Amino acid sequence: MNLKNNKIAIIGLGYVGLPLAIEFGKKYETFGYDIDQNRIKYLKKGLDKTKEFKKNYISSSKKLIFVNKIKQLENCNIFIVTVPTPIFKNNTPDLRNIIDATKKIGSILKKNSMVIYESTVYPGLTEEICIPILEKFSNLKSNKDFYYGYSPERINPGDKSHQLTNIKKIVSGSNNFSSKKIKEIYKSIIKAGIHMAPSIKVAEAAKVIENIQRDINVAFANELFKIFEKMKLNTYDVLKAANTKWNFLDFKPGLVGGHCIGVDPYYLLHKCKQIKFTSKIITAGRKVNDEMSYYYANLINKKIKEKFKKKKIKMLVMGYTFKENCSDTRNTKVSEIIKYFKKRKHKVHIYDPWVEKNEKISNFQKKLKKNYYDCIIIAVKHEKFIEMGKNKILQYCRKKNILFDLKKIF
Ligand SMILES: NC(=O)c1ccc[n+]([C@@H]2O[C@H](COP(=O)([O-])OP(=O)(O)OC[C@H]3O[C@@H](n4cnc5c(N)ncnc54)[C@H](O)[C@@H]3O)[C@@H](O)[C@H]2O)c1
Repeated sequence: MNLKNNKIAIIGLGYVGLPLAIEFGKKYETFGYDIDQNRIKYLKKGLDKTKEFKKNYISSSKKLIFVNKIKQLENCNIFIVTVPTPIFKNNTPDLRNIIDATKKIGSILKKNSMVIYESTVYPGLTEEICIPILEKFSNLKSNKDFYYGYSPERINPGDKSHQLTNIKKIVSGSNNFSSKKIKEIYKSIIKAGIHMAPSIKVAEAAKVIENIQRDINVAFANELFKIFEKMKLNTYDVLKAANTKWNFLDFKPGLVGGHCIGVDPYYLLHKCKQIKFTSKIITAGRKVNDEMSYYYANLINKKIKEKFKKKKIKMLVMGYTFKENCSDTRNTKVSEIIKYFKKRKHKVHIYDPWVEKNEKISNFQKKLKKNYYDCIIIAVKHEKFIEMGKNKILQYCRKKNILFDLKKIF
């Protein structure tokens, strides 16, 4: 089939699905589908609540249309799944979105179609869970009537230099035919090139370990932070010095929230359990990072007690998203720090220029009062805070104040 005749469906239009739909929509007839009716309503108007894309950028994708009914994807021959893969409260994989999306695709899948998964999963999930569902709901046989593959996404929301088309893309297929076809499709939009993984499991494993490696490296930096705090040594000075060695890895201490780094390790841990392997390092990394919000809060509390003898103070937490320069507040660890101080009856205000007014965060400030706060915590390294500068931020403080710059912006 001529590449131009492809009709592509993107299932799930979030941080991963929308950029993909936009890029494919510049070349091929593309259908962006999401179960969230509001998301579709806004996207049709060119509005992206994730703030990753401006109105005119979405509309530059001339062949992209947004739809909210699965039936509207009936004539597509390529389906790409970009739905969330979160975890339950007990840290086990919550596969409801990916299973639901798979059933829906199965219900409209036609012969010779291709289904590609991009959601982050554990090695084996595509073939052990998704493909049997596709076969059941479509009454078609994989690698005979339809084909499939896995291609993980590596985008980094808020990072303008690493975007979909300039990040090398890993692809994998169910057989030679599908591998070749998947490579061709992605090659037509990815400028950075394609890495062909030898199997779907390899591609799945590669994605999940990229994030686990980051989790573990941050955990190491966090542990160093705790050690050096006790020794009254500045961790950032130590890291700066160590970083002058060519092979020292540049990781900083910090909160690990969000839906990837703090979640994906549990996907591999789930697989470990299935194969009866007990992980030591991955589990330890998770534990260290999960405890970090409490550690920071305790440290700040100790300093507050030393400085202000009074029981209640006015605090401002700057930054609420789980990472810098993006609007995503899912699993943000900043909320745990806020909770800690609210529990101790301090007045806590929150300020984050990236967060929408309508998010249900109590004491969320759109404008800041001057000479008002006893304590400011900078929790997220937003560019906008760096632009404000330390002096401007200190204007919001009373004369006697403490500034906790958790991200060492200044
Ligand atoms: N955000 C990132 O930085 C990033 C990077 C790489 C990989 N990933 C992975 O990509 C996947 C998607 O993540 P995301 O951040 O784009 O999620 P997201 O929450 O931003 O977007 C997912 C979209 O899918 C929709 N959706 C949910 N269930 C659906 C269903 N059954 N049918 C149709 N639409 C459905 C939601 O309404 C939402 O709009 C996850 O597996 C994630 O781990 C995310």
